Amino acid sequence: MNIQSCVEVRNEWDIVKARQSGRNIAKELGFGTVDQARITTAISELARNIYLYAGKGEVSIERTEAGSKVGLKIVAADSGPGIKDIRRVMEDGFTTSGGLGAGLPGVKRLMDEFTIDSKENEGTNITAIKWLR
Ligand SMILES: Nc1ncnc2c1ncn2[C@@H]1O[C@H](COP(=O)(O)OP(=O)(O)OP(=O)(O)O)[C@@H](O)[C@H]1O
Ligand SMILES: [Mg+2]
Repeated sequence: MNIQSCVEVRNEWDIVKARQSGRNIAKELGFGTVDQARITTAISELARNIYLYAGKGEVSIERTEAGSKVGLKIVAADSGPGIKDIRRVMEDGFTTSGGLGAGLPGVKRLMDEFTIDSKENEGTNITAIKWLR
C-alpha cells in the first residue's frame, strides 16, 4: 500500500477523501483506532479550513521518521488569504466565520507536533505529526 497521499481540496467531497486516505495510511502504519480517529479528525479540520477560508489547497499525508520514531505527517497548504494573527487563532473560540473556533487548537491537542506558517495574502502551511507509540 501507498504510505503517501496528496489530496487536492476544492469541495466538501475532497474533505471526505482526505480523511479516508488519512485513515488508510494511519492503519497501514500501525496506529490504533483511537489514534486513527485523532488523525482523521485533525485532517478533516485542516481540510475544512482550506475549503472555507482559502477556497482551495492541498492536504498531504505521509510517513515520517525522526531517529527511531515513526509517525504520520499531515501538511495542509494553501495560497489563500493567510492568517494575520497566529497567536489569536490558537486561542479556543477564536473564529472569523461564526464557527466554534475549536478547529486549530483542537488539531494541536490531537497531534504531537503542530506548526503554522502563514503570511497574510500569501497563504498558510500547517504541519502536524503524530508519533507511533
Ligand atoms: N487555511 C486558512 N486560511 C486562512 N485563515 C484560516 C485558515 N485556517 C484557519 N483560518 C482562520 O483561523 C480561524 C480559526 O480557525 P479554527 O479552525 O480554529 O476555527 P473555525 O474554523 O473558525 O471554527 P471551527 O473549526 O471550530 O468550526 C478561522 O476562523 C479563520 O479566520
Ligand atoms: Mg475550522
